[in-house]
Amino acid sequence: MAGETILVTGGAGYIGAHTCLALAQAGFTVVVYDSLVHGHRAFAKFGALEVGDVRDRERLSAVVAAHQPAAIVHFAALIEAGVSVRDPAPFYDVNVGGVAALLDAARAHGQPPIVFSSTCATYGAPLQAALDETHPQQPLNPYGWTKFAAERMFADHATAYGQRSTWLRYFNAAGAAPEHGLGEHHDPETHAIPLAIFALLGRRDAFTLFGEDYDTRDGSCVRDYIHVLDLADAHVRAVRRLIDGGPGEIFNLGTGDGASVKEVAAAIERVTGRVLPLVRAGRRPGDSAALVANAAKARRELGWRAERNLDAIIQSAWTWHAEVEPKVFP
Ligand SMILES: NC(=O)c1ccc[n+]([C@@H]2O[C@H](COP(=O)([O-])OP(=O)(O)OC[C@H]3O[C@@H](n4cnc5c(N)ncnc54)[C@H](O)[C@@H]3O)[C@@H](O)[C@H]2O)c1
Repeated sequence: MAGETILVTGGAGYIGAHTCLALAQAGFTVVVYDSLVHGHRAFAKFGALEVGDVRDRERLSAVVAAHQPAAIVHFAALIEAGVSVRDPAPFYDVNVGGVAALLDAARAHGQPPIVFSSTCATYGAPLQAALDETHPQQPLNPYGWTKFAAERMFADHATAYGQRSTWLRYFNAAGAAPEHGLGEHHDPETHAIPLAIFALLGRRDAFTLFGEDYDTRDGSCVRDYIHVLDLADAHVRAVRRLIDGGPGEIFNLGTGDGASVKEVAAAIERVTGRVLPLVRAGRRPGDSAALVANAAKARRELGWRAERNLDAIIQSAWTWHAEVEPKVFP
């Protein structure tokens, strides 16, 4: 028997596709809603694909009405923080306008609960070593502000209309599920692990280390890398909890265990047995020294924890980029 339907906006993208896999494995019926502006038809293979833009209110509303989802997971967004500084308008249009359209569509059709992709970028510069959900929010770029604004909209719709939503603030998503033909395929790619792997594969000349004079254990920036399948698992738990009538909540999703850029580079050499071509550059403006999650709340309330370590993340990303990605995207 087909399980409850989950509508996944942005389900043809990186984290969305891995979450569709996990939802399908958990017995849900998946429907993807994606404009394919940055997503891939090849990733939308765990259920029906409805091609559409989240800003297209009529189409979005018709899709929600047609599928009557038990819950919605909202990934669809523009994600490049650097681009958002130069050109914020489309970020507000998609990341804020898209949420406004989604909330109206949900309100018109039975108010299915919503799981929302938020980000540690809403916190801004960290005031403590590991950030919990109560850390003040002062984003450092327009991308972070669009996600912050979307959170406010969800909060106000909860108060006024009773719309339930859970916000998942991810730290650095990484890794892949090459055995399922899934992995990171962004253009342009800006994330550290794929960029380092591209340098190993000769797709780039070298991997750039930005800054070695931060106040961290080895001077390079520390980030909390979380395997995309661990993220996907958290979404399934958040969806289940909302469908079962649980309250909307905010959860940080990270390992709680940061890795420095130098540690990532060393792990990549260890896992692949290759030497990473590396160039050293100065600090990049806007980079915090360290961003690490305190994910105790997700552990306590969702029964979730990140199961896969940095080596497992790198191994899966390496297999994806070296072997599987060229076959999926010839
Ligand atoms: N990648 C990370 O490390 C990270 C960290 C924190 C938060 N997030 C959030 O997670 C979500 C997914 O990120 P990702 O890395 O999978 O990005 P992605 O670009 O791979 O996926 C985003 C998907 O949304 C779709 N999309 C974009 N604009 C759309 C529109 N107007 N209408 C319909 N579909 C549209 C794209 O086609 C794509 O499939 C985003 O909301 C992002 O802000 C990502």
